[in-house]
Amino acid sequence: MLSYRHGFHAGNHADVLKHVALVALLRILTRKDKPLVVLDTHAGAGMYSLEQGFAVKTAEFRDGIAMLWERNDLPAPVADYVDQVRAMNADGALRRYPGSPWIALGLLRPQDRLRLFELHSTEGPILAQQFAQDGRRVTVTAGDGFAGLKAVLPPPSRRGLVLVDPSYELASDYRAVVTALHDGMRRFATGTYAVWYPLLQSRDAIQLPDRLRKAAGADWLDVALQVKAPSPTGRGMHGSGLFIVNPPWTFSALMRDTMPWLAQALAQDATASFRLDARET
Ligand SMILES: C[S@@+](CC[C@H](N)C(=O)[O-])C[C@H]1O[C@@H](n2cnc3c(N)ncnc32)[C@H](O)[C@@H]1O
Repeated sequence: MLSYRHGFHAGNHADVLKHVALVALLRILTRKDKPLVVLDTHAGAGMYSLEQGFAVKTAEFRDGIAMLWERNDLPAPVADYVDQVRAMNADGALRRYPGSPWIALGLLRPQDRLRLFELHSTEGPILAQQFAQDGRRVTVTAGDGFAGLKAVLPPPSRRGLVLVDPSYELASDYRAVVTALHDGMRRFATGTYAVWYPLLQSRDAIQLPDRLRKAAGADWLDVALQVKAPSPTGRGMHGSGLFIVNPPWTFSALMRDTMPWLAQALAQDATASFRLDARET
């Protein structure tokens, strides 16, 4: 049984990195008229309150989105992302945080489609309820996103962004993301894939970026943000990364320009830094 609830972490530094990249990817991918499909294999609960419930207990958003909220010197991709969060907070106060489904939907056009998968027995129905009104563009499946992905690739329009964002609560997720990327590329080699991963001190976590690089079989961009030093106990997340296969043209340059600023803005100690590697042929 799954126990991870994204509400405890919504809007934290990892969400900031992931969602800044998601907004930038969608901005570029929606420039062409042709319909785009966004597949979110681990969609979460959709919308998260930052005023009550899980988020208040951990207050992780204070080291994430809250660090950007009052700043007036945001680089363009970060400003674009913060604007998406502002659109969900009409009175200007930071009260709720939109997860990847809402961020994606905010940028999709009438011709685009959003396919969401969520396995958790509580989160799935919460998510489905939020998108019940937009059944033409959004499909929510209560089930395994890894299995679901196999069934829906390639998309009919042959233009797609696949976000793979597990919690890594299960050790098997480390293998599953590599397999999903490998299988996905066999079915849909021209798709853009974004796989999120945590920076942890476990062997599985340390080896994952290398495994993703081997599975990609195409151009990739690997961007990671460390916000603090790894803990002496060996526990806890000190940052996160995003592995992107087939990054659209201009995306890499955008991230290269943005990461130094983001690493400074979200720094929790003097070790805060970023890493950006790419295979571009
Ligand atoms: C990190 S959260 C997702 C956050 C979301 N993508 C966002 O950016 O707002 C991971 C989610 O995956 C769900 N999950 C775990 N295993 C899954 C699976 N095999 N298929 C689909 N969802 C799964 C968890 O219940 C959790 O809600």
